[in-house]
Amino acid sequence: MNDKNVDLIIRGGTVIDGTKAPRYDADVAVVDGRIAAIGDLAGYTARETIDATGRIVAPGFIDSHTHDDMAVLSQPDMSFKVSQGVTTVVGGNCGISAAPLRRDMELPMPLGLLEAPAEGRFTSFKAYLDALRAAPSSVNVAAMVGHSTLRAVTMPDLDRAANEDEIAKMRDMVEEAMQAGAIGMSTGTFYPPATAATTQEIIEVGRPLTSRKALYVTHMRDEGDKVMESLEETFLIGRELGVPVVVSHHKLQNTQNFGRSKVTLPFIQETMKHQCVSLDCYPYDAGSTMIRTDRGMLDGRVLIASSQPHPEMAGRDLDEIAAEWGVAKDEAARRLQPGSAIYFMMDENDVQRILAFDETMIGSDGVPVGEKPHPRLWGTFPRVLGHYSRDVGLFPLETAVWKMTGLTARNFGIEGRGTLKQGAHADIVIFDAATVHDAASYQSPTLPAKGIDAVIVNGAVTWRAGAHSGARNGQVITRNDKKETLA
Ligand code: ZN
Ligand code: CU
Repeated sequence: MNDKNVDLIIRGGTVIDGTKAPRYDADVAVVDGRIAAIGDLAGYTARETIDATGRIVAPGFIDSHTHDDMAVLSQPDMSFKVSQGVTTVVGGNCGISAAPLRRDMELPMPLGLLEAPAEGRFTSFKAYLDALRAAPSSVNVAAMVGHSTLRAVTMPDLDRAANEDEIAKMRDMVEEAMQAGAIGMSTGTFYPPATAATTQEIIEVGRPLTSRKALYVTHMRDEGDKVMESLEETFLIGRELGVPVVVSHHKLQNTQNFGRSKVTLPFIQETMKHQCVSLDCYPYDAGSTMIRTDRGMLDGRVLIASSQPHPEMAGRDLDEIAAEWGVAKDEAARRLQPGSAIYFMMDENDVQRILAFDETMIGSDGVPVGEKPHPRLWGTFPRVLGHYSRDVGLFPLETAVWKMTGLTARNFGIEGRGTLKQGAHADIVIFDAATVHDAASYQSPTLPAKGIDAVIVNGAVTWRAGAHSGARNGQVITRNDKKETLA
C-alpha cells in the first residue's frame, strides 16, 4: 500500500494529545490499528474519512476504575463506556475480580455484583484473559486480581485474618495472575469479605507484585473518620512491596469529615515525593455500592439501585420504602439485601478539590448491573469534560483530557495508549467541546452522553453519530506487553 493511502483519515479537527500540551489543528491518519501520521495530510487518500471540523480529536479515554470484568463478556458492545469515549477499561478493582473463582461457591457481596453465573466462571486468571481474547469486546481491558476474590475462593470463613496456609495459597494465585498478565492486585478492606484482613496478610499475599513492579490498588479500609490511618496503611503496603499504589475513588464520606480533603491531598502530595502514589476520583457527590445497614452509610439520602428480593424497588428512595413498610431505615435496607444502592454522602467542595488535584485520574467506578445504576456508569467522562471543565471551569480541557488518558496510561503502565502520537494504537475519540455533556441522571441513569461524535478502538470506528457500529476490536492489555514489544 502506498503510504499516503491509509485506512482512515480524520480531517480538519483540533488535536488534544493527552499530554496536557495546548491543542493544535491537524489531520490524523490510521493504518492497521495504529496512528500513521498527524499533521497536514492534504495529499492523503483513505478508505474512510471522518470530517472533524470544529471538533476535538483526543486519545480514547481510559477508565481507571471499573467493575466491567464480566460485562466485557456478557455485554461485549460496552455501549455504556464506548458512548462516553472510553476505549480502555481497568478491571478488577475494590478487591473484586472475575478470576480465579470456583463453580461450587456462593459469591458473597460485593462479589455478587459481578453477576458471574456458576457455569461461566474462570478457575484461573489465564482462563479469564484467554476468554477475553477469544471473544473480544468493544474496549481494551487491563485486569487486576482482587484480594477479596482470593479470600472468598480460599477461606471457609471470612471473618478472620488468613492463616499461613491460606496466605500461601492466595500468594500462589497472585503469582498465577501475574504470569498470565494481570497488571496488579486490588484490595477492598472496606467490604465484609476483607475487613478482617490484616495489613500483614495483604503484604504477604501481594509478594509476587514486587519483582514485576505491578500495581497495588485499593478501596481503602475507611474513607471517613479513619481516612488518614487508611492512607498510611496503603502507603505502608506500597513501601513494603516496593510497588506503585493507587488510592481508588478518593473521597471523604459522612458530614463530620467534609472538608478533610484539605488534609488528605497535601498528605498524598507529600508522600508522592518519596514513593509512587496515584489516585482516581469519579465526578459525583454520591457513591454507589452494595446495600449496607450500618449507620454511617444510612445517614444521608439513599437510592436503591437494585435489589434481588425486591427488584420493583430499584430507583426508589430508601426513606420512602421504609415509610411504606412501616419499618426503620436499617431494617428496610436489610430486607432489600442483597442489592446495590446510591449513597449521597460526600461534600461537593471535596469532590471538586479532589478532581482538581493535579495528579487525580478519572475513573467511573460504574457498576454495570440493574436498570437503575449510578449515572456515573454512562456519564463520568462527558461530565468531567462538560460540567467540571467547561461549565464550572475547574481546569482547562487539555488537563481534563490528560486526567483520562496520558496520566492514566502512565500510572497504570499502559504502553502505546493514552497519547495521540504517531505509532500509538489508534484509540481515538472525536467530540464537540462546546456541547459535550453527560445526559445520565439519577432518575434516568442509562442515557448516552451528548457531543461524542465518534469513537475509534484499535482503528475500528466503534461509535458514530450516537450509535454503536457493532465493532468489537478491543484487546487484552497485559503487563507483559512491554516485554513483548521490547523483544
Ligand atoms: Zn470501591
Ligand atoms: Cu470500585
